[in-house]
Amino acid sequence: MFRFGDGEVEYRVRFVRTDKFVDEERAGKFVWSTFSTQAPGGVLANVLPQRKIRSQAGITAVPRRGRVFAFDETGLPWELDADTLGTRGETSFGLPRDLTFYAAHNKIDVETGEWLHFGIEFGRRPRVHLTTFAADGSLAGHDSYALPRFSYLHDWFVTRRFVVLHLHPATIEVWGLLLGLRSIVDSLRWNGADGSLLMILPRDRRGGGITPRFVETEASFMWHSFNGHEEGDELVLDFVGYENPDHFIGPDPLTLAVMEGRPGQFEYPGSVRRIRIAPGATRATNEVVVVGNFEWPRIDDRLLGRRNRRGFVASARPRQFFWNAVARIDFESGSCLEYDFGDRVFTSEPVFVPDPGRTGEDAGWLLVELYDSDRHKSSLAVLDAARVEDGPLARVLLEHHVPISFHGYWKPRA
Ligand SMILES: [Fe+2]
Repeated sequence: MFRFGDGEVEYRVRFVRTDKFVDEERAGKFVWSTFSTQAPGGVLANVLPQRKIRSQAGITAVPRRGRVFAFDETGLPWELDADTLGTRGETSFGLPRDLTFYAAHNKIDVETGEWLHFGIEFGRRPRVHLTTFAADGSLAGHDSYALPRFSYLHDWFVTRRFVVLHLHPATIEVWGLLLGLRSIVDSLRWNGADGSLLMILPRDRRGGGITPRFVETEASFMWHSFNGHEEGDELVLDFVGYENPDHFIGPDPLTLAVMEGRPGQFEYPGSVRRIRIAPGATRATNEVVVVGNFEWPRIDDRLLGRRNRRGFVASARPRQFFWNAVARIDFESGSCLEYDFGDRVFTSEPVFVPDPGRTGEDAGWLLVELYDSDRHKSSLAVLDAARVEDGPLARVLLEHHVPISFHGYWKPRA
């Protein structure tokens, strides 16, 4: 946590003391399975995984109503003390635990104050659970729907009136998972010829009796969306998409090799893409807006579900997997302006911070965590979101390194 104020920046770092962390620290070895690793002990220790997989609370840490919640791919979020980052405990937000599924990527609609979640129930027949909390924190709704394919989903789209799940053809071979033979990640297969399927549901489902709408489109793998919005009755969905996720799924994917200290291989970079779904259409267009090597898309979060012209994203050099630059994408002109931090400096996700003193979509700053591999130290760069290509206005230098992280969120001090 970087805390800006009173002429200085304070930095704080804590492990989330999940059950998994505490048990394994005590045991001095791995005890529990995660979404990417199995527990020691073979099939018996891993059969019926959804009851056994433990949260690492390691993907998103979302500030909400004076509290902070750390989410993982599976399991329940962990509440942290917003001031000290101390671990308070696991929470289902008051819902029955066996009806509650939360993925790491949830969305806050700044205009309505709603907090929208999706989560996948693993089983013989996969289901998506949708949970919404109102601005006052109360439960506004929970319902679930059968999925026509068992896609592994990390993020989704929320527009003003709809939610959209991008069921890309990265599917989980569920029997190997349920029988304890493989982890979720090792159960993934890419079936590009099947195309992507978009599952569309209205946000207002209070009347019940909802049948999801399905639309086909060209296959692309998605980790993260920029945003979704509506132009009349057309849905426009912006994301970073891969023609083939060979960095993650395949015989020796880079993202797993790198965890074993090996370089790994991949062929297909992430491009900035836009899906358009016309009213009544059964097939959507899926076009590349900017060709590049991108990941970690973000927008000004106040525009969630509303038309956004700009997006911000991390950018890697050709054939490199890790990112040296941040870029500002203009979805209207297709332009991409970027700042490269240098050969041995690696970037993470650009987090947009609104500037209350300016107006317009670029009126803010980007916060980017950097890792300088020559100095083995990390820092936080502050860039003007309207002039990304000019590079940092300021840097917060740390005296140590921070392992490269995934996502960041900003909130103004109360
Ligand atoms: Fe993510």
